[in-house]
Amino acid sequence: MSLVFRAATADDVDRILEVHLAAFPDARGLDERRRAFTTSVFGGLEDLTLAVDDGEIVGQAFLFPFELWFGGRPVAAGGIASLAVAPGARGRGIAAQIVAQLHVQSDMRGDALTMLYAFRQGFYARLGYGATTSRRRLAIDPASIPASWRSLAREHVRGARSGDREAICAAYARTAQRKSAWASRGESFWNRHFARERRQFLVAATDGGTTGYVAFGLEHEEPHAATTLAVHELCADDDLTRRALIGALGAMRDQVAEIEMEVDAADPIELALLDTDGRRFGTDVVEHDLGTIVGGPMVRIEDVTRAIEARGYAADGAFDVVVRRGDPSDEEIAVSVEVASGRATVSPPRAAHGAIRTSRAALASMLYGGLEPSRAVSLGLAEADPRTVARIDPILAMAPLAPIDPF
Ligand SMILES: CC(C)(COP(=O)(O)OP(=O)(O)OC[C@H]1O[C@@H](n2cnc3c(N)ncnc32)[C@H](O)[C@@H]1OP(=O)(O)O)[C@@H](O)C(=O)NCCC(=O)NCCS
Repeated sequence: MSLVFRAATADDVDRILEVHLAAFPDARGLDERRRAFTTSVFGGLEDLTLAVDDGEIVGQAFLFPFELWFGGRPVAAGGIASLAVAPGARGRGIAAQIVAQLHVQSDMRGDALTMLYAFRQGFYARLGYGATTSRRRLAIDPASIPASWRSLAREHVRGARSGDREAICAAYARTAQRKSAWASRGESFWNRHFARERRQFLVAATDGGTTGYVAFGLEHEEPHAATTLAVHELCADDDLTRRALIGALGAMRDQVAEIEMEVDAADPIELALLDTDGRRFGTDVVEHDLGTIVGGPMVRIEDVTRAIEARGYAADGAFDVVVRRGDPSDEEIAVSVEVASGRATVSPPRAAHGAIRTSRAALASMLYGGLEPSRAVSLGLAEADPRTVARIDPILAMAPLAPIDPF
């Protein structure tokens, strides 16, 4: 086997679809799959790398060019997706080689990290990926949303109109900057987003201009069946706007039996709801099941210096990092990090301040996965003395991940 890699072209599409259909045998038909490859909102065929063995396409994966927000800064990131190997070529390391090839491409174009939604974490952990914080998908009884929030909705929230597009895009951009791993969205993304006829948009204005919006879909399986409202995204400039928008969802309670809404691991919203689980009954072990914990994507860094310098930081300070060798052929990497005005500068190690010692995967989790250094230490994923960790925690602090555009 002598694999070569190349970018996909329009002539390859039939074979690409064949490999994709075997790898992801869900109900989607060929036309829908063709659209996913040729006009994806995240990129195009030029972002698809093919593994070719003796003239035959045996595997493929996307490396989408993303700009993701971390610590208030936009970071160039590669999004790996749709990894597939033809059934006759499995178990020979082709998938691992495709991913390694994407890491080279991503590094060469200057990305600070790659991110992916793993089919199996163990496969990617071997390739240097670290975990990110999980998010919570709450299943909320609309009647549990406080009446005072519904009053705010009456005052501040209305259905979106076509003239609201610009204000919605701007509200998204403002919110994305405060989140972890939210992507900057281009025109084509928004065109597709607004074209979905079943998606509803409500907008909020709390001080004259638009201060936020919520996008959701309504689903039920057949006429008269229970209706679920699934929140796609909620962007709010301030707490009042957020309460008003959630209040507007509460006002849907005559129609809606349950609201599904994802929040990050630290969001305390259920503390303001009364009987979040409504009339759902519990079990002997769990009396009140409020939803599902959803595993986050995985992240990997290649160039340690670039990865440290690319994101923004919540507080200034200095610390050293020692990245352990992954395997005997690797070199140990030691660097000194100084953060001023939210930006990090990396220089050769000075050992003047305490160091945190960790693996490349755990460093990726701490820089881009919302893993606090003190938690990494307590989980055995890093070593540092307690005073050093207490100093590093506030510098690296960022919102836990709850990305909204899975790819
Ligand atoms: C997931 C998928 C891409 C893996 O493709 P693959 O080329 O068979 O993967 P690899 O050969 O690199 O690795 C598969 C296994 O074979 C093992 N392997 C690789 N080379 C080997 C070799 N020469 N000898 C023995 N075993 C080998 C790997 O260690 C791995 O072991 P694991 O099962 O313990 O993880 C493929 O199964 C697929 O297309 N699945 C359906 C789609 C899917 O789930 N895609 C992932 C979306 S994120």
